[in-house]
Amino acid sequence: MRNLDEHTVTQAVLDLIAGTPDARLKFILTGLITHLHDFAREVKMTESELQAGIDFLTKTGHKCDDKRQEFILLSDVLGLSMLTVAMNNRKPEGCTESTVFGPFHVDGAPAYENGADIANGASGEPCLVTGTVKDRNGVPIAGAELHVWQADSVGNYDVQYPDLETHQGRGVLRSQEDGSFEFRTVVAVAYPIPVDGPVGDLLLATGRHPWRPAHLHFMIKAKNYQTLVTHVFRNGDQYLDSDAVFGVRQTLVADWVKQADGRYTLNYDFVLNPANQAH
Ligand code: BEZ
Ligand code: FE
Repeated sequence: MRNLDEHTVTQAVLDLIAGTPDARLKFILTGLITHLHDFAREVKMTESELQAGIDFLTKTGHKCDDKRQEFILLSDVLGLSMLTVAMNNRKPEGCTESTVFGPFHVDGAPAYENGADIANGASGEPCLVTGTVKDRNGVPIAGAELHVWQADSVGNYDVQYPDLETHQGRGVLRSQEDGSFEFRTVVAVAYPIPVDGPVGDLLLATGRHPWRPAHLHFMIKAKNYQTLVTHVFRNGDQYLDSDAVFGVRQTLVADWVKQADGRYTLNYDFVLNPANQAH
């Protein structure tokens, strides 16, 4: 393994990992090494560009803590998250589509009774959210666990307030015997993804805006069904066609309806796919 050049170094690395016992790991690493080397050759990467890339990833890591996940954000703005979601969540017609998880879900959100106010002090216009969880034949799914999270009227999630000690705009509910659920919250608004880190620098350098159209996050878990990670997006939002993280699906767009008393309502029905039934 001497005198390797720009053409022979790739095979030398591949030869070294040829004995990787885990077949899947070997397959993934082989693809990664091959594509990384081809990429460097294609763009004729300079040493200072490689260093700039390393610096960027270092800053990305330094920006992460238990409340901030800059690597997820990076994957999101590069479309990698949505690509992975699309490949891994093909479903039969009629099932609710999946979209990106995003970096703002937290474990341990409070459990609420049906009908409760999950805003718990988050700012915003009042909104009642109703809907059902069913299977593709319209059969109600009782006892499904609905994890909900959203930003407030300023466009911030509770975890973005360093001094806030309660959970706001997030909670866990269960569907009723007839598959229905309802909760009170605040109206979702469009918001920019965090731009105070390297991902923000990347957006700026590439002339991209950081906005996401208004949405509510849902993760729905039910026994014998695939877990659904999705959003409901607000119809009419100006960013539906330019979501910074490529997450919008037309079937997930719904109307937030202003009622005579000034309050908003949103109704959305979710359809789960049985476990182990890819399309
Ligand atoms: C979110 O909707 O919470 C989100 C998703 C991807 C990147 C940033 C935020
Ligand atoms: Fe969000």
